[in-house]
Amino acid sequence: MNEGKKTFYITTPIYYPSGNMTIGHTYTTVAADTMTRFKKMQGYDTYFLTGTDEHGQKLEKKAAEEGLTPIQYIDRIVAETKDLWKLMNIQYDDFIRTTEERHTRIVQQIFRKFYEQGDIYKAEYEGMYCTPCESFWTPTQLVDKDGVKVCPDCGRPCQPMKEESYFFRMSKYQDWLIDYIETHPDFIQPAKRANEMLTNFLRPGLQDLAVSRTSVKWGIPVDFDPRHTIYVWIDALSNYITALGYGTDHDELYRKFWPANIHLVGKEIVRFHTIYWPIMLHALGLPLPKQVFGHGWLLFGADRMSKSKGNVVYPQPIVARYGVDSLRYYLMREMPFGADGNYTNESFLIRMNADLANDLGNLVSRTVAMIEKYFDGKMPAWDENAPDETGESLRAHCAALPGLVEEQMDKLQFSQALSEIWKVIGECNKYIDLTQPWVLGKDPEKKGLLGNVLRTLAECVRYTAVLTEPFMPSTPARIYEQIGLTDPELKTWDSLKTFGAIPAGVQVHKGEALFPRIDVEKELKALSGGKAEKEEAKAEKKEEKARSKQEKKAEKKHDEPEYPAEIGIDDFAKCKIQVARVTACEKVEKSSKLLKFTLNLGADGERTVVSGIQKYYDPAALVGRQVAVITNLKPAKLAGIESQGMILSALDDAGNLKLVTVEEGVADGALIG
Ligand code: MSP
Repeated sequence: MNEGKKTFYITTPIYYPSGNMTIGHTYTTVAADTMTRFKKMQGYDTYFLTGTDEHGQKLEKKAAEEGLTPIQYIDRIVAETKDLWKLMNIQYDDFIRTTEERHTRIVQQIFRKFYEQGDIYKAEYEGMYCTPCESFWTPTQLVDKDGVKVCPDCGRPCQPMKEESYFFRMSKYQDWLIDYIETHPDFIQPAKRANEMLTNFLRPGLQDLAVSRTSVKWGIPVDFDPRHTIYVWIDALSNYITALGYGTDHDELYRKFWPANIHLVGKEIVRFHTIYWPIMLHALGLPLPKQVFGHGWLLFGADRMSKSKGNVVYPQPIVARYGVDSLRYYLMREMPFGADGNYTNESFLIRMNADLANDLGNLVSRTVAMIEKYFDGKMPAWDENAPDETGESLRAHCAALPGLVEEQMDKLQFSQALSEIWKVIGECNKYIDLTQPWVLGKDPEKKGLLGNVLRTLAECVRYTAVLTEPFMPSTPARIYEQIGLTDPELKTWDSLKTFGAIPAGVQVHKGEALFPRIDVEKELKALSGGKAEKEEAKAEKKEEKARSKQEKKAEKKHDEPEYPAEIGIDDFAKCKIQVARVTACEKVEKSSKLLKFTLNLGADGERTVVSGIQKYYDPAALVGRQVAVITNLKPAKLAGIESQGMILSALDDAGNLKLVTVEEGVADGALIG
């Protein structure tokens, strides 16, 4: 079975390959990787599973939009996902894809077992259906939004739908599950999520769950009734055991690693993992995972990242510019695991400077530089005759550090674990200021004490390097190189039982700064400015094109017109042109062409329009003027600002632009036609 070694099995959600993975998916995956590396370092036999959830209508639609078969589309995303995990230094043991035969076959088997033992029955279902979420809702579950019944998960309208479906008798297991959650306080973490499950879903009563669809083709067929495909969540959740070979003749991994120690998931899918999944497992007669941890969301600004909101951050450009360890560190340090937090370029850059370049980087470079300067680069020996009282508490603190880190890691408090390490780093930097090695260095009598101070620092650096390895896997090697540590035995968790293990005489090497200090302002411009500039350049190009077309048209006035010779009144009537008053107007930052207008449309309210006419007008001079605006033009982003219309203008004979306006007395918002 597990050959005496303690095992540790951790999973991430299997992600939808409906688009490229974002910094949000990276967050969970880095957390799982960090935890695995930590446990491995502690001597556990670890297993880390990730993968992709490849079925469902959404994926089928997405592929069709690109003219691909689902699997062609998914294969591409999966390849890119694997590249990203490689880039992020993620060492998973297995990557399961739900379209693989090893998975589909067992899911069918599980479904059949449920049916045969009476947990699943067939019935006609009539209810409200949310197509994007592929979920049925009862009338009481729907949420009222401005008089429309919308999906409680995604907020989009639901449609009535009648479908024959297989149902899982969730209600049968409700009391058992309530009892299980109440008697296993560690099962759902953080604890408040357990309360949410009990209060919002379990105590009010579980509905039987529709677990098959006849309307979804891109799914695993029910093998005894192939008109039906298996509900995506039954399919997806099973991955945690199918990947281990459950239900096959080769179930060694299953027997070794199940039940999982931790399912790491975002808080929005805690419900599936702590209600449906435990019930499925219980119905199969299998033990439950020891813990489901629902972490918070990485937000961008005030919003959860989403492609539709256009606020998605991808890790690749950040890694390319600042290295993978900086991003891994930031993700694990910035917000307590469990709480939501904001990703901003600024907070990332500030952390890089403060924690990595200043605190850690300086400690290493100062320590090594002083050993070079005062001891010819050779690690000094402990001098028993030169007691260093100032360093006593630091040495005790550092020796206790592995325990402090372990305590936090056992609670998945990555940020706290790092904070413990950084407390020691901070104390080391203070210790340098207190002991003033540069003063000791002037007094030959103090050589022994100086040696003890520098050894203390070097040893603290060693502890730091070993303990940060799970978070920043490639940084320790660079530290070891600088402090002259070659013995692999001194780079292990076990080696942290002995403070002072670095042998005297090893040669240190001052190398490059571990993390160069960065100019936050400059980098901010490069990161977000770069984006704004790109958008602006694109917008300007478009403007330029439109403008030159207009100019050409003006030139060609007497030649062939580019417009159709005639249009019907209906064509003209499609354009909603209104009179608007400029209530504010300013130059768009970093743009030499764009002006941002705030326009008042009377009863139709206010809107923002961006127009490329900066070179023709002083913005202040436009405030108060009335202009003509097409107000039903599809909004477009110009330099990152949504422009909700187009201001009409014409070129005069000298090539200057003149705004179209109306004679006095016309109300703001009036229609032009
Ligand atoms: N396919 C399902 C999961 C099935 S598991 C049996 C799914 N996929 S997903 O692609 O939508 O991934 C959601 C998960 O990605 C979240 O639960 C979380 O782990 C991670 N995250 C994606 N974006 C995130 C943030 N912005 N912030 C934090 N985590 C995020 O749901």
